[in-house]
Amino acid sequence: MSSSTLQASRLHRIELELDGRARSGHAHPRTLLSDFLREGLGATGTHVGCEHGVCGACTVRIDGVAQRACLTLAVQADGRRVDTVHGMAAGEDGRLSDLQAAFKRHHALQCGFCTAGILASCADWLERVRAPDERQVRDMLSGHLCRCTGYTPIVAAVMEVARQRAAAGPAD
Ligand code: FES
Ligand code: FES
Repeated sequence: MSSSTLQASRLHRIELELDGRARSGHAHPRTLLSDFLREGLGATGTHVGCEHGVCGACTVRIDGVAQRACLTLAVQADGRRVDTVHGMAAGEDGRLSDLQAAFKRHHALQCGFCTAGILASCADWLERVRAPDERQVRDMLSGHLCRCTGYTPIVAAVMEVARQRAAAGPAD
């Protein structure tokens, strides 16, 4: 699909890799990626809160980079890799990722509404920042609103994963 061919009134075919699987669907040029993922592809683990970039609930990874799905058009995801919480568990047996397991251990979620977005941001960030201090973790989390946890257990979970990964050495 070429952006020069977009027509406002038309549905456009979008092909992407969603959580490791090739998926496709159709969307108008104005359709938000968050709506396309949820309503077009059934990926309802991507939550929608404010719909204007403030709460962070809709955050997904696009080609590895954490981004607001409510500030991204579905057509911008054409040909890209999109990772959501659905693909985060490792392996066929659904084993939790180290980050998810740490959130569980530290009770870093209550209602869970914010959690999928926070996990997406943390997963991206922890690949780029190897030995963060608590201030840096809190700064990263400032892009997310959580009404339940008070953030302290979330910070503890992220710090624990950062320490574990640092102790395990550089990733291959
Ligand atoms: Fe996207 Fe709130 S729903 S930032
Ligand atoms: Fe409820 Fe964060 S766990 S909003």
